[in-house]
Amino acid sequence: MPRLTPLLFGLLVSILVSAAPPPASLSSRDLLGEIIDALGIGLVTQINTTITLDSLVTNLVSVNVEVQNPLPFELTLDTVSSTAGINNTVFASFNHTFSTGIVVPPFGKAQTGVIDNVLLTQGAVATLAIIPLGFLDLLEVDTNVRALTIDGLLGVPLSITGLHQKNVSTLYFLDLTAS
Ligand SMILES: *[C@@H]1O[C@H](CO)[C@@H](O)[C@H](O)[C@H]1NC(C)=O
Ligand SMILES: *[C@@H]1O[C@H](CO)[C@@H](O)[C@H](O)[C@H]1NC(C)=O
Ligand SMILES: *[C@@H]1O[C@H](CO)[C@@H](O)[C@H](O)[C@H]1NC(C)=O
Ligand SMILES: *[C@@H]1O[C@H](CO)[C@@H](O)[C@H](O)[C@H]1NC(C)=O
Repeated sequence: MPRLTPLLFGLLVSILVSAAPPPASLSSRDLLGEIIDALGIGLVTQINTTITLDSLVTNLVSVNVEVQNPLPFELTLDTVSSTAGINNTVFASFNHTFSTGIVVPPFGKAQTGVIDNVLLTQGAVATLAIIPLGFLDLLEVDTNVRALTIDGLLGVPLSITGLHQKNVSTLYFLDLTAS
């Protein structure tokens, strides 16, 4: 992966240059997503899902996601929308805006913290069947990031759409204390 970085860096810089100061055009946004997909760089390294007793009624769970930054400069995540599932069947969906951007250091990792209101689209009971698999495929990830931020500030806003990632390690926690 480090060998790919100069290539990605060059492509990203050219997109940044063409994207700033007006927001990235639709084609730039899709292009960046396609580049990241094509290079097989997963931005997500781990998903932890917390299921409560309420989840059985509400079909809502929370997740904490570990993300990685394959790039040699800081990225800050402002929003993420994602669907996840198994074999092209969506089991979970959420749209989230971070109250404080998630700062991911160059070549580093960060956790998003708890993201609530993740909808189990097949219902909680049907979802129990996929827990033993221990992984999820990210079927569609759209994110608004800022590239080249400094401690989460400033940076160049970019929308990255249509990311896919297979086989993301997923842990499930049953929280019986929540009400
Ligand atoms: C997921 O849970 C494991 C085990 O408790 C922990 O080591 C890891 O840091 C957690 N990751 C996230 C993203 O919450
Ligand atoms: C996913 O699809 C593959 C190939 O069709 C099949 O072998 C596998 O059992 C499926 N997995 C699940 C969890 O349904
Ligand atoms: C996320 O947003 C999309 C597009 O607006 C919408 O179709 C979807 O239902 C939303 N998902 C959740 C869990 O709210
Ligand atoms: C999924 O990842 C695990 C390691 O996290 C690996 O053992 C397994 O072979 C992978 N499965 C597929 C279908 O890539």
